[in-house]
Amino acid sequence: MEANDTWYDNCVSYQLDVATFHDSNGDGVGDFRGLTARLDYLRELGVNSLLLMPFHPSSERDDGYDVIDHYAVDPRLGTLGDFSEFIDEAKARGMRVMLDLVVNHTSDQHPWFQASRKPGSPFRDYYVWVDEPDDPHADQVVFPDRYDSVWSYDAQAKGYYFHRFHDFEPALNHGHPRVRREVMQILSFWLALGVDGFRVDAAPFLIWPKGPAQHSEDPHAYLRQIRRHVARYGRGAMLVGEANVAPAQLGSFFGAGDELNQLFNFLGAERIFQALALEDATPLHALRALLPSLPPGTQWMNFLRHHDELSLIWLDQASRETLLDTWAPHPNMRIYGRGTRRRLAPLLGDPARIRLALSLLFSRSGAPMLYYGDELGMGDALELPDRLAVRTPMQWSAAANAGFSAAPKAQLIRPLIEDGAYGYAKVNVTSQWLKADSQLNYTRRLIEIRRACPELGLGRHEPLECDGGPSVLAESYYLDEGHVLCVHNLSKDARRVTLRHDKLAKRECYELLARRKGRGDAKGQLILQLPGYGCCWWRVGSIFAPAESGASVANAIAEAPS
Ligand code: GLC
Repeated sequence: MEANDTWYDNCVSYQLDVATFHDSNGDGVGDFRGLTARLDYLRELGVNSLLLMPFHPSSERDDGYDVIDHYAVDPRLGTLGDFSEFIDEAKARGMRVMLDLVVNHTSDQHPWFQASRKPGSPFRDYYVWVDEPDDPHADQVVFPDRYDSVWSYDAQAKGYYFHRFHDFEPALNHGHPRVRREVMQILSFWLALGVDGFRVDAAPFLIWPKGPAQHSEDPHAYLRQIRRHVARYGRGAMLVGEANVAPAQLGSFFGAGDELNQLFNFLGAERIFQALALEDATPLHALRALLPSLPPGTQWMNFLRHHDELSLIWLDQASRETLLDTWAPHPNMRIYGRGTRRRLAPLLGDPARIRLALSLLFSRSGAPMLYYGDELGMGDALELPDRLAVRTPMQWSAAANAGFSAAPKAQLIRPLIEDGAYGYAKVNVTSQWLKADSQLNYTRRLIEIRRACPELGLGRHEPLECDGGPSVLAESYYLDEGHVLCVHNLSKDARRVTLRHDKLAKRECYELLARRKGRGDAKGQLILQLPGYGCCWWRVGSIFAPAESGASVANAIAEAPS
């Protein structure tokens, strides 16, 4: 089935944390003014949708995911005025803005939770309290290295409260009508300020039972209610869900196209890394059968890395161990027994392999999302605790503090990567901007090409006949008369490959990455030489997508000022 022509079907997103992106006032913390000043960088990179990590006042123990006030901007990051100015400037550049909607839980410092601790408080039922838990539900704990129960005791409340994440992140009781109303108000508030969408943090946990707390009706009715609210008040706004659930459960979060508009493709990321590790395309072919089909109006959001761990949870244990041995040989690189906390570049190492991975990302069916810094090949800081390893400040230049902040080094919100191959003197925007064949310029070109290939976001996708052996992934994408072929050599060794397709017979073909020309022979064969980790994207018949292509409409919508 082909997806709908809505902006999010084919947008190129970029995830960033305002606090680590750019500091405009020299206090050591990135802020909205700093981000606004860097919008032209993002426009030049070619992304047309920004996904912001939480920027609200928080208790600063989970990088902003421990929210204290959903209606405000953390004063270190700016004011609501700075936020509104940022929205205007992003829109003026044709960019959409999505926020992280963190409502599965609040900080324990949130006024609702503080009130809830007092017996008899009207806020008591905003959270889930029991006198004595009957079961620790250890299997529901998200951070198994830190907790062995979803219950923590509160002496003032004289009871246990439910939390799947940290013990300072009590879970809200979404079965309660007043909590639902609060969520609708939070959505309305940010929609009124011009936001285009939300990343629904911990989406499954909004509807799954929390101890004795259940939804009184079909739990998915709540996701439909959220979707209706966003659709009604958001003028084209969307919801992308963080739902790293078993393959068989994934489809339920799309509903009949009336729940979450998009889901992060966790399974896809896992299979890309498996294919890269094994130098074998089989996991990516198998993925087609694992993913549910897309109901109308829904789409995948593909990614390689993001702000959390690279999860390998849906592989069988032996495959996971093999992958962890490859990608995370040192215990300090592993996290929660299910993944790695390394960044893309140090994980893959070889620059050609990093480019291959980026090409895989941008050529997946669906909408791609890039994690800040991965366009440069930024490294990780494994000396920082858990996922902070991949959340170091953006590296803008070789100047003091990587051009991130004018504050004294000791005042920075997080240490920079200073030494080694990934230190900011070596890896930074300015030096890569100046170098024609840098990873930054390669990524820009990929995004530019990707945006001119609506077939990838909206078209039909199928494997292409090719004799390259298991390490070659050859795929066709069709939309209207448009036909794009993407070929990836996952092996470190060069391959000679013959592609076969009736539609290639005697047709001119144009390779979009290196700007070369080829021609299918009378039998519909196109012969390619691929270097180790090489890739190529071919457009059949023309260098341009057909004018009538539905996706040009989607791109136009994405760029129309709303
Ligand atoms: C989500 C976020 C993660 C955070 C957790 C608890 O899973 O992605 O970063 O720690 O929620 O808020």
